[in-house]
Amino acid sequence: MAEINRIVILTGAGISAESGIDTFRSAGGLWEQHKVEDVATPEGFARDPDLVLGFYDMRREALAKVEPNPAHRALAKLEAEFAGEFLLVTQNVDDLHERGGSRQVLHMHGELKSALCTSCEIRSPWDDTMANRPPCPVCQAPTLRPDVVWFGEMPYQMERIYGALGSADLFVSIGTSGAVYPAAGFVQEARQSGAQTLELNLEPSEGTHFFHEARHGPAGELVPRWVDEVLGAALS
Ligand code: APR
Repeated sequence: MAEINRIVILTGAGISAESGIDTFRSAGGLWEQHKVEDVATPEGFARDPDLVLGFYDMRREALAKVEPNPAHRALAKLEAEFAGEFLLVTQNVDDLHERGGSRQVLHMHGELKSALCTSCEIRSPWDDTMANRPPCPVCQAPTLRPDVVWFGEMPYQMERIYGALGSADLFVSIGTSGAVYPAAGFVQEARQSGAQTLELNLEPSEGTHFFHEARHGPAGELVPRWVDEVLGAALS
């Protein structure tokens, strides 16, 4: 294995599947149960805020009932023991990376446990329902929305992500279908900057042909094994 000093990891819904959280595009997944345009767009929120707030309240409640799995914990171990630079970017809005022990997690699509006030535009930690229109903790206006990036909105911290991709030695994509940009384009960005690229996913993703290497299977098995390899190689 070539010397690895800077690692960027991207995770998606597949890393939380074994914890019992539905993915979006699998059979019976969230986007089969709900219409994307109704619950994950600013237009849908304007049209029917009760439906949208109820949807994210339901997901927040479901999150309280699940636990991180070995894949989450393995990434926390890698963050703690890897001597080089490490950035974990997730598309997930759950907090299972943090509950699995990860300290620095960049949530590019926002977080279920955060509220965004559409009056003062301040984000506040949030672990309760929103459908009852609670007051914003900062300005008291009853105008909270889920702090989740919807389709048509700009993901968070894109400059920082592209900066890290531009100097990475290794880019690893875990549990994502590669169906949604800009995240689906990260592998090409990293590759263009000379990074090695690896896909760890249950099945080939839409962008699997862009990766130098792809391993397919459950993240709960693939990720701990891969982390042991990286840490083992670092010792030898
Ligand atoms: N282990 C590894 N991979 C898995 C597992 C598992 N146990 N279970 C499912 N997968 C894989 C699937 O094969 C699929 O490729 O995870 C991927 C999940 O894909 P999606 O449901 O499309 O989720 P994701 O890629 O995270 O979606 C991207 O789309 O809906 C928006 O904003 C939302 O962040 C989300 C974005």
